[in-house]
Formats: sequence, structure tokens, C-alpha cells
Amino acid sequence: MAGRLEGKRIIVTGAAQGIGFAMAEAFLAEGARLFLIDRDGDLLSTQAARLRASGGTLGFAAADITDAAAIEAAVALAGREIGRPNALVNNAGVNVFSEPLQLSDADWQRCLDINLKGAWNCSRAVLPGLIEEGGGVILNIASTHAFTIIPHTFPYPVAKHALLGMTKALGLEYAGQGVRVNALAPGYVRTQKVVEYWNSFADPAAAEAETMKLHPGGRIATPEEIAKAALFLISDECPFINATCLMADGGMTALHHPG
Ligand SMILES: NC(=O)c1ccc[n+]([C@@H]2O[C@H](COP(=O)([O-])OP(=O)(O)OC[C@H]3O[C@@H](n4cnc5c(N)ncnc54)[C@H](O)[C@@H]3O)[C@@H](O)[C@H]2O)c1
Repeated sequence: MAGRLEGKRIIVTGAAQGIGFAMAEAFLAEGARLFLIDRDGDLLSTQAARLRASGGTLGFAAADITDAAAIEAAVALAGREIGRPNALVNNAGVNVFSEPLQLSDADWQRCLDINLKGAWNCSRAVLPGLIEEGGGVILNIASTHAFTIIPHTFPYPVAKHALLGMTKALGLEYAGQGVRVNALAPGYVRTQKVVEYWNSFADPAAAEAETMKLHPGGRIATPEEIAKAALFLISDECPFINATCLMADGGMTALHHPG
């Protein structure tokens, strides 16, 4: 039986760890050819070697998604190594959390450059190919921060709300050419970034317990659970899902407050 992603040539950004790496593992297992991008070149090459050991076609490039020229070059390399990409997952992102009036201009810029402009740089680099191919898929990894606000996390939710706007705008713009653009909004996911967030509090264990309480099931997601939802959205199993966002938050955004 063919894999669910047979024929897909997918670029995944931020693939050296966390959700991006889990997606890479899941996509490869379903027959996709992959090209991975991350700014941490050392970790990426170690992880790519791990993935190659279990088989599958895989290329990678160390590149920063905020560098449009480097992304153009990486997409061209992907074309040579795995064939012209017909899918992109904009996953690379960073937490920039502040009380609004404490925020520096540099941090505002860094947050918007990586979490929003980076996704546009990558989308712009692959879109002409998707259109020429007669269709393709872009998936933006958003967040529950694209819908609701946690105080003192400014301007991360500003960028994630805008990423949702870009998802809808591009999804409408190119629907007639067979391109689907969707977002996926995870709640908290157990990655290094979240552990670092808990460790930024005086009492990390208490911070972790508070996070668990936000999720009706009393737990957060694993990266592998998010990868399964991404796999569905990238696959051809949902041809009429476009310009929208799938929540993968265990019901967190439906919760008014913990009872
Ligand atoms: N972990 C969560 O709880 C959670 C929840 C909701 C949404 N998200 C989103 O999911 C995505 C992945 O999060 P994660 O927790 O797996 O993160 P992570 O920190 O574990 O991994 C992110 C990867 O992206 C890379 N990266 C960062 N900036 C980059 C840049 N400018 N260019 C290229 N690569 C870059 C990093 O080197 C890293 O390998 C992010 O967009 C994040 O906002 C995460």
C-alpha cells in the first residue's frame, strides 16, 4: 500500500528539533521526499543523519528564514535534491514574550521577522513552483496565541494572529490554481522551548502545573500528536480544506476557565 504522502516533496522549516523534527519523521514514514531547513546547521545535520538511517529521501540546508536570498537558494537546492517542492510547512518560530511597554524595538522586529516575515519568505519562494505544478500545499504552524491572548506574551500573539491572516489571504488568492494554504494551531507541546519557558519562572514545577490546568485533559501535547494533524493537512485526504485553521489544543481555546 502506498504511503499517505507518496508523491509529496515537502520543505519543513525549523526541522532540527521539536514539532518540526516530529513532522519530518512522520512525513518520511508516509513516503514523502523531504527537504529540511533550520538555522542551527550542526543540529540539523545530526538529525538528518538520524532520519536517513531509517530510510527515505532527504536533503537539508542550514538557512535562516529571515534571509530571503538564503531561502531562495535553499528552495533551489531542494529542487535539485528531491525534485521541485509541492508542499511547504512553515514551522520555524520563536517565543518573544514581554509586557508590551517593556518590549524593545529589536525584540518587536525579531519576533515579527521570524514568526511572520520568515513564513512569507518561504511561501514566496515556493509559490511559483506550486502554481506551475497545478497545485500544492502550504501549512503554517500557528498557535492558540493566534486566537487568544496570555498577558505578558507580547508580541508573539500579534505575529501568530497575522500568520493566520496570511494563511487566509494566500489561501484565497491561489485557490483557483489548486494551492491550499492552511494553519494548524497547537496548544502547549512538550518541546525544549516550553521547558525553557517553565524554567524562566522562579518555581518551574508550579509553572508546569499551571500549564497543565489550561488544558481540559490535564496534559499538553506531544510533538508526535501535532505531526499527525499536520500530516493530514499536507496529504490529499482533505482537498476542500483551505484558508482555515485546525485547532490541536486538546480543547484549550474552548475552555472559559478551569472549573
Ligand atoms: N511548543 C509549543 O508549545 C508550541 C505551541 C504552539 C505553537 N508552536 C509553534 O510551533 C513551531 C515549532 O515550535 P517548537 O516548540 O517545536 O520549537 P523548537 O524551539 O523546539 O524548534 C524550533 C526550531 O526552529 C529553528 N528556528 C528558529 N528560528 C529560525 C530561523 N529564523 N530560521 C530557521 N530556523 C529557525 C530552531 O533552530 C529550532 O530548531 C513554532 O512556530 C511555534 O511557535 C509551538
